[in-house]
Amino acid sequence: MKAQILINKHFTIGEIDRRIYGSFIEHLGRAVYNGIYEPGHTTADDMGFRKDVIDLIKKLNVPIVRYPGGNFVSGYNWEDGIGDRSKRPQRMELAWGTTETNQIGIDEFHQWAKRADTEVMMAVNLGTRGPEEARNCLEYCNSTTDTYWANLRRKNGFEQPFGIKVWCLGNEMDGDWQMGGKTPDEYGRIAFETAKLMKWTDPSIELVACGSSNNRMLTFVDWEYKVLDHTYEYIDYLSLHQYFGNAADDSQDFLCCSVDMDNFIKTIAAVCDAVKAKKRSDKTVNLSFDEWNVWFHSNGAKFEPWSIAPPQLEDIYNFEDALVVGCILTTLQNNCDRVKMACLAQLVNVIAPIMTENGGKAWAQTIFWPFMYASVYGNGKTMRSIVECDKFSTEKHKDVPYVEASVVYNEKENEVVLYAVNRSLSEDVELSFVAEGFEGYKLVEHVELYNDDLKAVNEKDNERVAPANVAVTESETVTLKKHSWNMLRYKAQ
Ligand code: AHR
Repeated sequence: MKAQILINKHFTIGEIDRRIYGSFIEHLGRAVYNGIYEPGHTTADDMGFRKDVIDLIKKLNVPIVRYPGGNFVSGYNWEDGIGDRSKRPQRMELAWGTTETNQIGIDEFHQWAKRADTEVMMAVNLGTRGPEEARNCLEYCNSTTDTYWANLRRKNGFEQPFGIKVWCLGNEMDGDWQMGGKTPDEYGRIAFETAKLMKWTDPSIELVACGSSNNRMLTFVDWEYKVLDHTYEYIDYLSLHQYFGNAADDSQDFLCCSVDMDNFIKTIAAVCDAVKAKKRSDKTVNLSFDEWNVWFHSNGAKFEPWSIAPPQLEDIYNFEDALVVGCILTTLQNNCDRVKMACLAQLVNVIAPIMTENGGKAWAQTIFWPFMYASVYGNGKTMRSIVECDKFSTEKHKDVPYVEASVVYNEKENEVVLYAVNRSLSEDVELSFVAEGFEGYKLVEHVELYNDDLKAVNEKDNERVAPANVAVTESETVTLKKHSWNMLRYKAQ
């Protein structure tokens, strides 16, 4: 099959905000305890953080990590996680049915974030708590005033504020699984009042209001419209969450997930702009896609109720999941004019690119690779690309192009990076790339992720899905193997 991708130097979608390559650590399963934190581990640092895990996270180049939840945050007392660790309460954690020891809280997590070269995106509890606790937490983290919470931070050993810039106003508040779930008006009101107090406490922060938990919620769109109507003045972003799965074992259809994601983004951007028009506002609310991933392999897994850090949501990702993650990343890049932040949910052990063994190794799952190459090389402007190729249909998706692609121009590095997934399960694609205005640029690297077996997985001692370099030739076209992910780097000569 033949395909062509055309770009022109003058036609761009927008500048990529690096925070689209964010991720997420929740107090859930083995994400925190026995994930990033394992004091007895051979690689543990002076605070008990695993250095082997930090090294993998640095390799992923994650600019921001959402914390501490997720569903967890809707019952969380942030004060449980500060100060003397011997005095911290152990609590029943109702979101996931486990015991929370509170040995890690924001005091420790912000230090971990520094060690992992990343920033914290903090969520506040608007489920069982409200505006006061949220603004107290903000004062504790960010204020330099001579006032109670800022002084408590100093007393706890932190003279310098943590400087957390991005704050999420609760999590998935439309869900009946959420502690303190709400109607759109209930949430809109409390989010508005919380946002107001938080911006009065620290006007430099950016706030994310909760959109729907996913686009199948019965209140979808109505929720967004009402929440924006209440909060428009004080918030900066609206959140989107979506997980994908291949429970029906239809690989061809599974590879179309990113089409749904693209529609979802465009729908919510339109809702934001509808409220903007209604309010005759000059301000544009952008999007934070702060939970996305493949999640279905671990459904139904059992664990001991009220145990500490049981293995929960430990999806083992296969090769086709990596292709889907690759397609999703191109979709985020292609929507960089509206999506300014996004979080791969999650980062370690829990539906994660990084797996660890208690007391043992840490390794990269299949989905690690497309994420790493997007985050490391996908910086600059996304170009408007015209993809000409054959299309296919499944029962659920019509006229889907076989080639999913994005093109990023990194002016500083004088390089153009093309990401492409060939969705065909049976045919290679001969791709020609026409880059108008980039005369003299030459292909210098072609990285490919391919396995003949769509269900191949990585295990701690057996990395079956890993990137490989394809020899670069003078040929006019490159081959995108059937069901493969590719990154092509062109540099000015
Ligand atoms: O990421 C796992 C869970 O998925 C989060 O806690 C919740 O926000 C979502 O439903």
